Amino acid sequence: MTIKTKKSKSVSKAVKSRITARAFLDRPVPPEVLRKIFNKARRAPSGGNLQPWNVHVMTGKPLNAFRSEVIGKLMKGETEGDTFPPYPSPLWEPMRSWRYKLGEDMYGLLGIPKDDKPARLMQVGQNFNFFGAPVGILITGDKRLEVPQYYDIGIYLQTVMLLAREQGLHTAPQGAWRAFPDTVKKHTEHPDEQHILVGMSMGYADPDAPVNDLVADRAELHELVKFYD
Ligand SMILES: Cc1cc2nc3c(=O)[nH]c(=O)nc-3n(C[C@H](O)[C@H](O)[C@H](O)COP(=O)(O)O)c2cc1C
Repeated sequence: MTIKTKKSKSVSKAVKSRITARAFLDRPVPPEVLRKIFNKARRAPSGGNLQPWNVHVMTGKPLNAFRSEVIGKLMKGETEGDTFPPYPSPLWEPMRSWRYKLGEDMYGLLGIPKDDKPARLMQVGQNFNFFGAPVGILITGDKRLEVPQYYDIGIYLQTVMLLAREQGLHTAPQGAWRAFPDTVKKHTEHPDEQHILVGMSMGYADPDAPVNDLVADRAELHELVKFYD
């Protein structure tokens, strides 16, 4: 077990112990814990204080109805067209290699070889079960937002993810949900001006799941940060 499941007691520990968990225990998260996290996350900063996030936190029956419908569509091969592409295409170096390595490390831990496309697809499909998490979060935002508002959404996501660690919870941010804008619209209350920006799984990580042993690589400090002194 590599994943740290204890409650984080400092920001540094929350940052260090946060990973994208891709397997969760079947253990509900108390509603008051969820309220605490999202109430504290209101303090996330945003340019001009626009607070461009609209957050839908699903548990229990609404969550299960939503994920069942999406999984049903996936099984029938039905797609809805992504709201945004996940990455620039084609991706360039070194990002291309970093992305490739992430996939190889993950499938390696799961023992799925490169040529086993069905098994790889099944793992990707886990996204649409919120990786078995008891809490599914969808963030919608206005279609008229500009690029800086997407930074704000990212800051909000990380704020929620670190607050979750303080409660002993883990998360998985998920761009994958952008593939199902119509089903998201059907299961959440938001006006036509908005669409799905990103989703997130949240819950107690399964410490025994091999996929949760994945500690994704990072560039060395000097590769991406320059100090001018
Ligand atoms: C905005 C965003 C969207 C992401 N979307 C997905 C996703 O759809 N599915 C997935 O398995 N991981 C997703 N990830 C997780 C990344 O792969 C992960 O953050 C990265 O590999 C670094 O690993 P770590 O989070 O475990 O440190 C996403 C991360 C971010 C920040």
